[in-house]
Amino acid sequence: MPLIDTPVISEELRERFAQANNVLVLTGAGVSAESGVPTFRGGGNTTVWKGMPFDVISSAGMLARDLPAVWEWFNYRRGLLAALKPNPAHDAIAHWQTQFKNLTLVTQNIDGLHQAAGSRNVIELHGSIWRARCFECSSRHDARELKFDTGVPVCFDCGGNLRPDVVLFGEMLPAGAFEAAAMKAQTCDLCFVIGTSAVVYPAASIPEIARSAGAYLVEVNPELTPLSELCDEVLMGKAGDVLPLLDQ
Ligand code: APR
Repeated sequence: MPLIDTPVISEELRERFAQANNVLVLTGAGVSAESGVPTFRGGGNTTVWKGMPFDVISSAGMLARDLPAVWEWFNYRRGLLAALKPNPAHDAIAHWQTQFKNLTLVTQNIDGLHQAAGSRNVIELHGSIWRARCFECSSRHDARELKFDTGVPVCFDCGGNLRPDVVLFGEMLPAGAFEAAAMKAQTCDLCFVIGTSAVVYPAASIPEIARSAGAYLVEVNPELTPLSELCDEVLMGKAGDVLPLLDQ
C-alpha cells in the first residue's frame, strides 16, 4: 500500500468530538488490517481457501453441503486470529467508550479484537468466530472448548450439531442486532465509519440512517468508498494512524 499522508483533523470535527454525547462507530475489516487480519476487498490481500473464494466457503450453501469443510475453514481462521492483538485503532475506540456519555460500537468483524481491546457491549452484526451455535436448540458455546473428533462438534446441551456463530453469505443477521444499531443511528450526533468498503448491506445502511437523521458523518479509510460522498468529512488514512489523532 503506498505511503499515505496522515490527514489533518478539522477544527469542526475537534469541536464536535469534544461536545458529542451520542456517538456511533461502525467498523469493518480495515480496522483489524493493522493487526494482520486479511481484509475481504480493498487495500489488504483478499482471501481464497483451497481454491474457493471466501464468499463460497463462507456461505449458507456450503454449510448445507459440507459442514466439516466450513468448520475446517473457520478453525483455520481462528488459528490465524488467536495470535493477533488489537492495534491502536481498537485501543482508541475502547478509550472513546470511557469518554462519551453514550458510545455505540457496531462491528461487521467476527475477530473479537474490539473486545480484546476492552470495548464492551459491542453489537456484532456478523456474529463471532469465537462462538458456536446449535442447529437444534440454538444455544451458544465457546468455540475454544469444542471437540472436533468427528469433524463436526456437538452441542453440550442437546447433542445436536454445532455451526460457527457467524453470519454466512445468504443468511440473515442475528435477530435484533441490526435493529439495535439502526435505533442508535437515528439518535447519534456523531457517526464514524472506519475500515469498511461500505458495499455490504444492511450494515452499510447504518451510516446512511445516521446521516439522514442529522448526525455528522466521518469516514476513516485509506481509500474512497461509495459512502464517501455522503460524509461530512473523509479522513483518508489508516485507522491506527488517524484515530489516536482525535485524542490529541
Ligand atoms: N485502516 C482503515 N481502513 C482500511 C485499512 C486500515 N489500515 N486497511 C484497509 N482498509 C479499508 C479498505 O480500503 C476497504 O475499504 O477497509 C475496507 C475493507 O473492506 P472489506 O474487505 O470489504 O471489509 P468489510 O467492509 O468489513 O466487509 C463487509 O463483507 O465479506 C463480508 O462478512 C464480511 O463483514 C464482512 C463484510
